[in-house]
Amino acid sequence: MTSKILEKAQATHKLTKAEIVKLLSLKETSALFETANQVRREFVGDGVYLRGLIEFSNYCKNNCLYCGIRAGNSHVKRYRLTPQEIVQTAQKASSYGYKTIVLQSGEDGWFDTDTLCDIVRQIKNLDVAITLSIGEKTHEEYAAYRQAGADRYLLRIETTDKTLYEKLDPGLSWENRVRCLYDLKELGYEVGSGSLVGLPGQSIESLADDLLFFQKLPVDMAGIGPFIPHPQTPLADQSADGHFELALKMMAVMRLLLPDINIPATTAMETLHPQGRLLALQAGANVVMPNATDTQYRSFYELYPGKICLGDNAEKCRHCIEGKIQSIGRHIAPGKGFHGDYKKENV
Ligand code: SAM
Ligand code: FES
Repeated sequence: MTSKILEKAQATHKLTKAEIVKLLSLKETSALFETANQVRREFVGDGVYLRGLIEFSNYCKNNCLYCGIRAGNSHVKRYRLTPQEIVQTAQKASSYGYKTIVLQSGEDGWFDTDTLCDIVRQIKNLDVAITLSIGEKTHEEYAAYRQAGADRYLLRIETTDKTLYEKLDPGLSWENRVRCLYDLKELGYEVGSGSLVGLPGQSIESLADDLLFFQKLPVDMAGIGPFIPHPQTPLADQSADGHFELALKMMAVMRLLLPDINIPATTAMETLHPQGRLLALQAGANVVMPNATDTQYRSFYELYPGKICLGDNAEKCRHCIEGKIQSIGRHIAPGKGFHGDYKKENV
């Protein structure tokens, strides 16, 4: 039965919701991971794209119940890099060989549109691709960042279960999050989305809906993060048991459904398993986003406990990941790694 579903997925890249649920419920996962690995190799090759992640502010006006930097967490030491520091950090990251810079923050109103556009323009001079991950904005704001040179945008849907989403992200509307994703698509961004896996009240059926949602959009990139409970949030008492395994299955099925997109091996996966990112790279992933934030700020961007590489610096992270990638017979892909680049380079 499983092998039939995997054969169908490999041949057509289409599955019904019931078939996806079946794959996500598997106890014996080696055939699923091996098939996802084959599809990854066929459609995006053995290269791994690196994206240098700069966490430039942990101020956030939102209060997502799962998130360590939510506005309501008064224990967090808040920090905000100046525009000049952000550009300098990007310069350093570029000098370590990163061809994509990801700028991520909480929803911090201090950065108005002009300030953000100015930062984007300055970083763009480094000849890098720019990804923004700064939350829900208006169409006008997204258009301005795009005009300034932003290439990609990451906004996880977190869950397609509207009721669950609005319970866990109080004050936010699920429809508005979807509106953001379609606005970004319409403006010509490469759109990245993704889910949190293991949220309290989240069903396997709703995870299957997430995958069908990504396929419908369709996304250019999607990151699957296991939910890791943070002790200073209302979800402190939840467990993370089984979240890594389920997130890996989600990621593998996503590779089958969207064979040529960019899929990161997420940092949260390595927090739950010492080999998390390497296992993910062997089950469908082709991207890693090493931390390029200055060491002094890293511990304050604590979305969840146990985040890896907190005491390391950007240069060390860059070299460390290269060694790990080579240890599984893969290599760092050259270039900026836009969706479809591999195909273009290999026709
Ligand atoms: N503010 C931006 C946004 O909302 O898209 C970007 C920053 S937000 C902290 C980045 C991602 O962190 C979220 O999309 C969420 O999936 C993830 N995250 C937050 N809390 C987490 C937790 N406890 N465990 C794992 N991932 C978490
Ligand atoms: Fe805003 Fe997490 S609640 S970044």
